[in-house]
Amino acid sequence: MWLPCRCTTKYVAASIRRGVSASSLHALRRGRSSWNSAAFMPESAGFEGVSGRDALHDYSVSHSENFWAAVARQRLNWIRPFEAVQDCDLSQGRIKWFEGGKLNVSVNCLDRHVHTCPERVALIWERDERGSEVRYTYRELLEITCRLGNLLRRHGVKKGDCVTIYMPTCPLAVASMLACARIGAAHNVVFAGFSSEALAERIRDAQSSTVITVNQGVRGGKITELKRTVDAAVQSCPTVRQVFVAMRTEKRVEVTDRDFALEEEMLKEDVVCEPAAMDSEDVLFLLYTSGSTGKPKGLVHTQAGYLLYAALTHRYVFGYHDGDVFGCVADIGWITGHSYTVYGPLANGGTTVLFESTPVYPDPGRYWDMVERLRINQFYGAPTAIRLLIRYGDQWVKKYDRSSLTTLGSVGEPINTEAWEWYNRVVGEGRCPVVDTWWQTETGGICIAPKPSEPDAEIVPGMAMRPFFGIKPALMDTEGKLLTSNNESGALCMAQPWPGMARTIHNNHQRFLETYFQPYPGYFFTGDGAYRSQEGYYQITGRLDDVINVSGHRIGTAEIEDVVVIRSDEAHLSDFILIISVTQFAKRLPKTRSGKIMRRVLRKVVDCDLDSLGDLSTLDDPAAVQEIIEGHEKLL
Ligand code: WTA
Repeated sequence: MWLPCRCTTKYVAASIRRGVSASSLHALRRGRSSWNSAAFMPESAGFEGVSGRDALHDYSVSHSENFWAAVARQRLNWIRPFEAVQDCDLSQGRIKWFEGGKLNVSVNCLDRHVHTCPERVALIWERDERGSEVRYTYRELLEITCRLGNLLRRHGVKKGDCVTIYMPTCPLAVASMLACARIGAAHNVVFAGFSSEALAERIRDAQSSTVITVNQGVRGGKITELKRTVDAAVQSCPTVRQVFVAMRTEKRVEVTDRDFALEEEMLKEDVVCEPAAMDSEDVLFLLYTSGSTGKPKGLVHTQAGYLLYAALTHRYVFGYHDGDVFGCVADIGWITGHSYTVYGPLANGGTTVLFESTPVYPDPGRYWDMVERLRINQFYGAPTAIRLLIRYGDQWVKKYDRSSLTTLGSVGEPINTEAWEWYNRVVGEGRCPVVDTWWQTETGGICIAPKPSEPDAEIVPGMAMRPFFGIKPALMDTEGKLLTSNNESGALCMAQPWPGMARTIHNNHQRFLETYFQPYPGYFFTGDGAYRSQEGYYQITGRLDDVINVSGHRIGTAEIEDVVVIRSDEAHLSDFILIISVTQFAKRLPKTRSGKIMRRVLRKVVDCDLDSLGDLSTLDDPAAVQEIIEGHEKLL
């Protein structure tokens, strides 16, 4: 079983005290101490009487419409300007932004940069094989995106269709996402480590007629038979008419009537592809994420609001500037890959790294070797990987030149103090602010992070701290009452809508309302708990439900059971190597006679609370509990 890292209030208080006293470490200063909001954020130049970061944040929340309208006009290219800034009502779960406006996301990510700087590098593909990186300029990426868009159109993919992408992180995967955006189709990227059952379930729910994949995946020196997984999946997906297969390796794979060789077909297409004029609220993508129970949820993100929010947070949380190289090591199968490998950096005309490998391949120096070779300025990763690397020792980091780094980001789970300190001191040589960014698939982009802040503002280890512009967090007590003072813990909610929010769950708006809007009427409920310090900073304490975070990915108990327990005979384990270091294996799980896993018993074992295992009379085989208890003791 996986043991989540829980942060107690005591720990929070201690780290805050440390944060204040050790000012040389945490109060990271950069240049001037007086801070001009218009110079920092040109979009805010017209906001009257606003100076300083906190004033700008106050303005973004109290004059939300003015704020978002100004930012949307300046950051995005519109085919037709929007008429209404927002039409939102959290009590109804209604969220609409920039209606009346038309735009194309791929034009915002590609064409406009091709006009100004065609030869700027858009993608650096850090292939699994170290030292064999490949660069794509904006001109080249636009060209392959257009070819792909034309190909999909020729094969009948229309505005409103949904294309499933089952590919590792690579340029053709990014181009596939952008090609969908270009022709107005939605994409549904499925993490290429998921099993054929998980893939099939997502294809069926999305009703995709088209799947894009690769012959084989290469990760950590190992080959995965991705095309074979697709073949197995589509057997139970009657909607699938066609599968496009890119060649990641030389290996030829079995083809059926519905398969097409992607690169060969692309060569037949024109390099110009007319972009579809999309409404702000048309669907951009679905992304499935695990719920605590039942089917995965296909969260729906739309065009303008999502792109704007991804771009703005990328620019200001990480301090991204033109010419920087942004290294987000998340797989594109997760929301982090969507927002901070693809959409945010490309909307900003940035250079983004596509990381195909693992943190320990071919050795534990992989990240830092890459930082040196590619001159990465902002590095964004998950605490699990950091904790794993700490175990291998500092020499793997120090071997490489990390002087290009300016900001270090963390996402996916709480970052414990030890990992934070190591990241800051060893990786960043104490020079680089560590931004612990809190957000979710549902929020579209980062909602709470230490940056942006004024240059001399403190950063407290292990705390996400400050709400981003336009974000107004709220904490609720167990009775559902709003907690109004500081130094309190509660259920983390959002009191105001923002453009990056998910709009619904595909095919299940009722579940969307029940999960996020009904628990605390008038608020968006995140599912996480948080503590608000005396100073008003936020620290996330973890999920309030059954969902677990593994190496920065949200995984429900269902997926773990699927991969680790039921399918342990298959190769999928390699994609979950990070799960393994914190997983207790069991030959069997305690089940009821009707076959349901007794999760409450597992939870008690993990909490070492053996005296209150509760009613075990429905257990099929009591010996299974004993085995689990013994296995857990060994793990401790
Ligand atoms: C957790 C990942 C603590 C949280 C972007 C959230 C975090 C879930 C942090 C979303 C953080 C994410 N500190 N916990 N900085 N960032 N989480 O949808 O429980 O894969 O609800 O999105 O990850 O996971 P998801």
